[in-house]
Amino acid sequence: MIRRITRLAPCLALAGCAGVQSALDPASDQASSVFGIWSLMLWICGVMYALVLAFLAAAIWKARHRLSGPPIAEGQKSPADRPLTRVLTGWVGLTVVGLLVLTFGSFLVDRQLALADQKNAQTIKITANQWWWKVEYDDPVPGRRFVTANELHLPVDRPARIELEAGDVIHSFWVPNLGGKQDLIPGRTNRLLVTPRRVGLFRGQCAEFCGLQHAWMALDVTVEPQTAFAAWAEAQRRAPAPPSTPEALRGRDVFIGAACNSCHQVTGQPAQGQTGPDLTHMASRPSLAAGARPYSRQALDEWLRDPQALKPGNHMPLVATRADERAALVAYLDTLK
Ligand code: CUA
Repeated sequence: MIRRITRLAPCLALAGCAGVQSALDPASDQASSVFGIWSLMLWICGVMYALVLAFLAAAIWKARHRLSGPPIAEGQKSPADRPLTRVLTGWVGLTVVGLLVLTFGSFLVDRQLALADQKNAQTIKITANQWWWKVEYDDPVPGRRFVTANELHLPVDRPARIELEAGDVIHSFWVPNLGGKQDLIPGRTNRLLVTPRRVGLFRGQCAEFCGLQHAWMALDVTVEPQTAFAAWAEAQRRAPAPPSTPEALRGRDVFIGAACNSCHQVTGQPAQGQTGPDLTHMASRPSLAAGARPYSRQALDEWLRDPQALKPGNHMPLVATRADERAALVAYLDTLK
């Protein structure tokens, strides 16, 4: 029922509501439910507001009218006030009905969210850190599990059970097109079910203030057909092709020599650091530093030259490199696809 109301929403006629980060452009069962209750609230509160304004206008008009009429003796009611009791009773009744509909509507949506079908659900663990997302794809076969950072791929029409944890402070996971917000709290695991129904690119954003770079804590979300997802997951499980050009080979030496590997992981290389984002396929990701820049070699160079200039306060230390070393490092990192 709630979803049917969605179709009545005035917003659908407005192109401004569509977008990669819009709760008014739902692309999953859960987001449709949330949008349904949003639309219901908009309609009920909008009608109530219009009625309040109409009553106010009528009251002003009547007061003026009365001022120009014959004076009323003290203690006597104006004839214009007689229907007032009836109108007030009706208004109270209408308010109660409106609140009951909203209460029942939010109860139904809560049930829909809690009882969503979990058959064939895929478990993905997301850990929020200042200021990036670690994304781990679970699999019954340990060798098929894999990790990525700041990007989330989901197959369309398959439920995803997202387990949310925090590595430091409280964050909030929010991909508006796919569902409501859910906090990530250190020391506990929260869960969010998402069943995407539309292929597309979406943007997630941390929705709980978590420090200096809270705004640059974005997540690139791709919902794709099952076959495309399977191909992507298979590519993620593989180590990237080893560097082949002399510059990229030198860049790998710089990477190891500058101890980048003590914080970062690259599958197939002596790089098993866990405190920073996994870099195994970083050059294939849409953005750099959790959405701070679209990925490009130039952005990568800018980032390595001074991470604090691009994203002040982040935990990446400045690794002093000469320009030629940095060029080699960029050449190597750009092979991680
Ligand atoms: Cu993480 Cu705000």
